[in-house]
Amino acid sequence: MTELVHTRAELAVARAARTGTVGVVMTMGALHEGHESLLRAARERADHVLVTIFVNPLQFGPTEDFDRYPRTLDADLEVCRRAGVDLVFAPAVPDMYPGGAPQVRVNPGPLGEDLEGLSRPGFFHGVLTVVLKLLQLTRPDLAFFGEKDYQQLTLIRRMCRDLDVPVEVVGVPTVREPDGLALSSRNRYLSAVDRQVALGLSGALRAGAEAAEAGRDAGAVLAAAHAAFGAGGSGARLDYLVLTDPDLEPGPVQGPARLLVAAWVGDTRLIDNAPVTLHPTS
Ligand code: PAF
Repeated sequence: MTELVHTRAELAVARAARTGTVGVVMTMGALHEGHESLLRAARERADHVLVTIFVNPLQFGPTEDFDRYPRTLDADLEVCRRAGVDLVFAPAVPDMYPGGAPQVRVNPGPLGEDLEGLSRPGFFHGVLTVVLKLLQLTRPDLAFFGEKDYQQLTLIRRMCRDLDVPVEVVGVPTVREPDGLALSSRNRYLSAVDRQVALGLSGALRAGAEAAEAGRDAGAVLAAAHAAFGAGGSGARLDYLVLTDPDLEPGPVQGPARLLVAAWVGDTRLIDNAPVTLHPTS
């Protein structure tokens, strides 16, 4: 049975009744197969799976899609029931922020100002602040996040390490449609034409990964990814397409690396990423 609670007082009672390993999957709802793979990963490792559903106003800019972000609680609960989730915490904004918008927020540091942070100022302050609050409220042993939001996952890991948050952060690989499109709650904004254009993102990552497998160097890998994006995603407006160290640290890239892309398809901003391995050039 899946128990649903809305307030932090209800959550405290429900959480106290769970002994054994607790795994949390934090979401903004509109659950899809990508979330289902997080739930499966949590089920495999934890005695109890706790899901949070909260569209966090702190991580949306003034011109972003907070108002139109899909809110589908009944369908989400059905997904949770099917996946054997024990407990769902779906607070309203005043339950999460009883004192109003918090004045004290988690500072993500320099990485929070790069990539997504450049286009979405304050985004990672909002994400890390709500994630830290939800970790305090749910007190999990394990917390599962998708690799699809790779910079978010990296920053959450970093926050837990830097601030001694006692939780194991587990990254779960991205789930894709058969044609390569990464699953995202925002895909539901895409028209049929937009959806075709959106394939430019995964196409660019695939081309980069293939170039890396063929033993090409970092410059050639990135060039191959850009060429493929130009060919396949020509209706999209590229924000960034970069090759970085797997921890998103600045500096030269060699061995295991990450290709990350962000682009606008119509009014919808999409992100994607993939691991690549750069072989040493002889
Ligand atoms: O990835 C998301 O859905 C959100 O950023 C998160 C982690 C639930 C915080 O609001």
